[in-house]
Amino acid sequence: MPTNRERIDRLRTMRAAAMLGGGAVRIDQQHRRGKLTARERLELLLDPGSFIEFDAFVTHRASDFGLDGQRVLGDGVVTGHGTMGGRLVFVFSQDFTVFGGSLSEAHAEKICKVMDLAVKVGAPIVGLNDSGGARIQEGVVSLGGYADIFLRNTLASGVVPQISVVLGPCAGGAVYSPAITDFTVMVEGTSYMFVTGPSVVKSVTHEDVDAERLGGAVTHTTRSGVAHLAAHDEAEALEFARRLLSHLPQNNLEDAPRMETGDPWDRRDPQLDHLVPDDPQQPYDMHEVVRRIVDDGAFLEIQPGWAANILVGFARLGGRSVGVVAQQPAVLAGALDIDASTKAARFVRTCDCFNVPLLTLVDVPGFLPGVSQEHGGIIRHGAKLLFAYCEATVPKLTVITRKAYGGAYDVMSSRHVRGDVNFAWPTAEIAVMGAEGAVNILFRERIAAAADPDAERRRLVAEYESQFANPYIAAARGYVDDVIEPSETRPRLIRALEMLADKRETLPRKKHGNIPL
Ligand code: HXC
Repeated sequence: MPTNRERIDRLRTMRAAAMLGGGAVRIDQQHRRGKLTARERLELLLDPGSFIEFDAFVTHRASDFGLDGQRVLGDGVVTGHGTMGGRLVFVFSQDFTVFGGSLSEAHAEKICKVMDLAVKVGAPIVGLNDSGGARIQEGVVSLGGYADIFLRNTLASGVVPQISVVLGPCAGGAVYSPAITDFTVMVEGTSYMFVTGPSVVKSVTHEDVDAERLGGAVTHTTRSGVAHLAAHDEAEALEFARRLLSHLPQNNLEDAPRMETGDPWDRRDPQLDHLVPDDPQQPYDMHEVVRRIVDDGAFLEIQPGWAANILVGFARLGGRSVGVVAQQPAVLAGALDIDASTKAARFVRTCDCFNVPLLTLVDVPGFLPGVSQEHGGIIRHGAKLLFAYCEATVPKLTVITRKAYGGAYDVMSSRHVRGDVNFAWPTAEIAVMGAEGAVNILFRERIAAAADPDAERRRLVAEYESQFANPYIAAARGYVDDVIEPSETRPRLIRALEMLADKRETLPRKKHGNIPL
């Protein structure tokens, strides 16, 4: 019989072996690729010393086909829980040094265990992905393991925040786990996601493309919209995950944590009074508006490189987390197109399911006209944003800074779709359409028949602008609650948010709505 001392020594030896994953040589290879190990990543992600590991002794149960009898403790994924900023979080971190981080039955079970616990206790899940996908040697059992994870991602959706950080390969059906989670962060140059890799693409479509261009971080944060943030390195990617979670509650029954700020709630910003140009056709940068309003000018923008005609992201007002949705007049004049609608709709729903109030800044000339937009389904995609705003029950604050034209006025958190507090700046223009378009439709014949058509058009445009290009018709109806000086926007919003802190609004009882997808 071994002595107690020998038993403890054995445990220590096994733990040391588990810590090494696929071994020193493979760890070295991982480092030479500019990548950290699964454990090094957890150290960066979590508060120092907070990680508690589960299932370090789990090994695979497959036959030895292609595995040469290797059984590595932990089986290619490190799982457990820790804290971030003192708040509980569940984690899994795939270990590429063990069978390429590929997912076996046992590997999947480890991930499912922490996901189940996270939902049970109401805490976020952060998954660090670095995997060759389904473990080939395990066949359908591995596919089943993925499906078990997808199901849990779906059931946890809207219950606890889920963040995926992709730090290496993520290929085939494996991509659908990050795709279901709330946010996906990638690293430039070392991570990629695709359903089929470059060689399959080449054989099927004869297109030559490398992994980076097909599914790298830049591709997915500028072209496809699959990922939300691209980091320069792994440390930054993990920091993004921490910052994202700092704006979210632990679960759907809680509110996001309130943070101390040295930024006075009643700070007025006189620069805002001059920010909107006198010429309504001139663009300006909505980032500046956001930064001047929110606490300490801090704005965590999501998907900044994709559909840049709309800005979405997290900020704080008086210490409270808010989700900001704002047109960007400097890109496509802030028009709503397919990608902008999809981007904002997803963000509105993310905020709504996690009780994060919405701040909407409106300067929208309308939906983007064009054959490609119509044929691409702008009706269907625009409806997503409308649906998302109509359905959202979190506190909704709206500020119309300039244009709020046509259907886009309705969509962008208007009073009619249950905006709670709606302000307009004196520069607001709330109308069915812009002056030129309106005059051309209403007075085409009169203009053509005039002795001086251009002068007649100018006169009618001026008349339309003086009648409609202002916020006072909407204010007279109570569609906007007040016309405010731009410089007082911050204190007015913070007071409104305080007033709405205990807002409770419910939807009709139903299984779920049928958002147009
Ligand atoms: C078993 C795998 C593996 C896998 C990699 N390895 N992928 N083992 N199953 N899926 C092993 C390799 O054999 C190798 O072991 C080690 O991991 C490192 O892999 P390398 O190929 O040497 O690394 P690298 O050159 O960096 O290439 C990484 C890679 C490549 C691009 C990920 O390994 C690859 O293409 N793997 C297969 C990817 C794939 O097609 N997966 C299935 C996708 S479909 P040794 O011992 O030689 O070092 C899928 C379905 C999901 O996942 C189910 C959803 C429904």
